[in-house]
Amino acid sequence: MCGIVAYVGEKEAYPIIIEGLKRLEYRGYDSAGISVINGDLATFKCKGKVSDLEAVILDGPLHGNVGIGHTRWATHGVPNDVNAHPHLSGDGNLSIIHNGIIENYAPLKQALENLGHVFKSDTDTEVLIHLIEEVKKEDNLSLEEATRRALQKVVGAYAIVILDKENPHKIVGAKKSSPLVFGIGDGEYFLASDASPMVKYTDKVIYLKDEEIITIDLNEGYEIRTIENEIKKPKVLQIDLKIEELEKGGYEHFMLKEIYQQPITIAESMRGRINAAEGWGKLGGMELHMNRFLNAKRIVLTACGTSWHAAMIAEYLFEDLARIPTEVEYASEFRYRNPIISPDDVIIALSQSGETADTLAAVKLAKSKGAFIYGIVNNVGSTIARTTDSGSYIHAGPEIGVASTKAFTSQLTVLTLMAIILGYQKGKISEDYYRQLLAEMESVPTLVSKILAKADQIKYIAGEVRNASNALYLGRGYNFPIALEGALKLKEISYIHAEGYPAAEMKHGPIALIDMYMPVVIIATNKSAHEKIISNIQEVKARKGIVIAVITEGDQTIKEMADFSIEIPNIAEPLSPLLAVIPLQILSYHIAVMRGCHVDQPRNLAKSVTVE
Ligand code: G6P
Repeated sequence: MCGIVAYVGEKEAYPIIIEGLKRLEYRGYDSAGISVINGDLATFKCKGKVSDLEAVILDGPLHGNVGIGHTRWATHGVPNDVNAHPHLSGDGNLSIIHNGIIENYAPLKQALENLGHVFKSDTDTEVLIHLIEEVKKEDNLSLEEATRRALQKVVGAYAIVILDKENPHKIVGAKKSSPLVFGIGDGEYFLASDASPMVKYTDKVIYLKDEEIITIDLNEGYEIRTIENEIKKPKVLQIDLKIEELEKGGYEHFMLKEIYQQPITIAESMRGRINAAEGWGKLGGMELHMNRFLNAKRIVLTACGTSWHAAMIAEYLFEDLARIPTEVEYASEFRYRNPIISPDDVIIALSQSGETADTLAAVKLAKSKGAFIYGIVNNVGSTIARTTDSGSYIHAGPEIGVASTKAFTSQLTVLTLMAIILGYQKGKISEDYYRQLLAEMESVPTLVSKILAKADQIKYIAGEVRNASNALYLGRGYNFPIALEGALKLKEISYIHAEGYPAAEMKHGPIALIDMYMPVVIIATNKSAHEKIISNIQEVKARKGIVIAVITEGDQTIKEMADFSIEIPNIAEPLSPLLAVIPLQILSYHIAVMRGCHVDQPRNLAKSVTVE
């Protein structure tokens, strides 16, 4: 993972890099560092967040117009000052920042040690900069040529940027598997893991491709070559990202802002894609390939984390509404278990970031077997979006809180719409039901607002259970994946151990854990299994568990049984996950805040997982 940012221009590099790093902290935040060329090469780094780095640079900001910065999510070597990036070459002339993993670092390190290189850190990155130094010195090469040749010896993933004290106007960057965006400003240039550090200064970017190396010289401009030394002239793109989208906008946390944005973001995911009055729903990327979908022998959805939970709900949706056999796979399992994939399969890859390494690898594997790959991605222009055959952006806007909220409901919105369209086009749902579902989809943003208005009541419940050590989440049918998502939200930001289970499975194990200290969150909105879920609640109550029930408005029966209940508006069952998840997001948020947890940057996690 890690976030990297580099600046070359006329301005002071330090504030631009520090601000850029803060925007990239979602990618990792266990240590941070910066190098700026100011006659010499000034490098500062430390364990902790970017704000800790600022505190380390006691003598005020560094001066200089060329610099690189890094925020780390540790892979090789514990998070400490020494392992923090940048790393320097043996002679101290070169400084590197790196996002990725050099898989063959051990033999490279051994060979370099045999040549007399001495390493200070445990990182693979330090090996890489010593390798570049060695190649450079051996044949007296330019930095870019030495980098190109050194990278030919490297196995693994990298987005790197290197400074050279002896060439103070130049930086060299390269990428493979990890993202690197090049920004072209007015007499200034940027390199970063995503476009957020540069949007304040430019909207012109180039997304570098794998095995491309960029040399940026303040006086001579930029040049992009492949690792095979072929010159490339990629198109400069214009990005549409506004600085306000990257700010908290008055909310205490990004997660809270993103929870509250959902009425808008869900509507954005449907914009131009649905018109209930006229009776149509359409997704451009799907329409172009409708035959692939209609003739698909099966759909396989692949994803990680919260996106995987959205994929699970899609399995229920596609099978229930469109009667297409559907499977869901963790991307990390799919890619390594030799799956059977045929050209008749439609593979749907879900990813908020569009950069998750396992999901990307799963996409590449399925592509190599001839399957049709559809991406449902938030981050426009991201690697997964560019690798799939077609797709639909979810248009949720930048999601910065590490715990995914608005991206999840936008993914669900698109998936639900896909299932409704396919169900109708395949003749599996009636015209009336089709129109009803479209109309109810259009009402979702308003219904979500109604749930958000109950936040104080949910906050009260959070206060009652904030000291729990464990929690159980139960759901049936469409809301079983919501139980999984509710449990994930709680554990990732509040560090309370939580498990999601199909409600009926509780009696096969988790029931043994229930006592008077155990909150049991039950999503009890199902119409089809209402009696069954009532029995499950009775079973929890009989063991003195604390029942928090998410119920349909007016469900007096469950309301009277539960210790706490949260009412959500009535909606067709296939659409109910879109509403049921909202109170669970709010509940987790408040519990985490009450426990003093760092909601937007939970320990050990990162938003974009670009390591496998
Ligand atoms: C990380 C994030 C999760 C996210 C998962 C998949 O674990 O912390 O919030 O759901 O990656 O990310 P993606 O960007 O592929 O949806």
